[in-house]
Amino acid sequence: MSRVAYVNGRYVPHSEARVHIDDRGYQFADGVYEVVAIVGQRFVDEAPHLDRLERSLKELRMTMPMSRRSLELVLRELVRRNRVRNGIVYMQMSRAVAPRDHPFPKLAKTQVVAWARNSKPAPASVAEDGVKAITMPDIRWGRCDIKSTALLPNVLAKQLAREAGAYEAWLVDEDGNVTEGSSSNAWIVTSKGELVTRSTDEAILAGVTRRTVHELAKEEGLRLVERKFSLAEAKGAREAFVTSASSPVVPVTQIDEQVIGNGKPGSTTLKLRERYLRYMVEAGVA
Ligand code: PDD
Repeated sequence: MSRVAYVNGRYVPHSEARVHIDDRGYQFADGVYEVVAIVGQRFVDEAPHLDRLERSLKELRMTMPMSRRSLELVLRELVRRNRVRNGIVYMQMSRAVAPRDHPFPKLAKTQVVAWARNSKPAPASVAEDGVKAITMPDIRWGRCDIKSTALLPNVLAKQLAREAGAYEAWLVDEDGNVTEGSSSNAWIVTSKGELVTRSTDEAILAGVTRRTVHELAKEEGLRLVERKFSLAEAKGAREAFVTSASSPVVPVTQIDEQVIGNGKPGSTTLKLRERYLRYMVEAGVA
């Protein structure tokens, strides 16, 4: 079956989906994006993802080029045409196609591309053994709360993680605190049993999965604290894990050379993972 993508109002074969060389997303990373998980042909937390897309656009003084309803219909059409059961839908909006010049062009028509694809389920080893994270300085800009396509530091961090045989790279700010992963939010369960994730500020992306896991943790009666935590605290933690639309509560059992807890995914992490996977199946919207 050949894949279908969406480009500015048209459904086109994925292999022929193109943007112009003067697209500002391409030249300046002047754009925003979202990734929404699909489980059983249904979208997981679609509304908060689209809310965040609108917020990212607003923060960059870009305009939403279509109604939210139209965008929702495009996403559904992509799922249908690509026969996606379990996977992701990706959407990206860039400021304009215009002759290269740093200031915003006078007539900026937001460009939209989107695609959807099936993904393979995570290998069983992820939940059984957990994954490794390496750490490195957070060299990103001061507005990581905007989901912009300017991901070069994230790409470099993830590449170093892969080369080190790790799943994720945790980024550490100048004060020695963990901000987040290169494409996920970072969590720990401290030696005192406190569930901790960094409070949202301009240094991290306010993850949609983070928010949902937060709600589910409260339902489970877990004590959750949103605060900064240092790399030293993370290395001494009982448990650690990451969350994102495509990494739903993935246990981290090693940070750099430090084994976390007893080296196996912890009970809080596994409980939250199980609870979140159930939520994904039950709460999706078609
Ligand atoms: N990444 N932090 C960063 C830097 C991210 O890129 C992501 C998501 C998250 C988690 O956000 P959410 O729970 O809303 O997915 C946190 C997506 C999946 C990506 O870039 O592929």
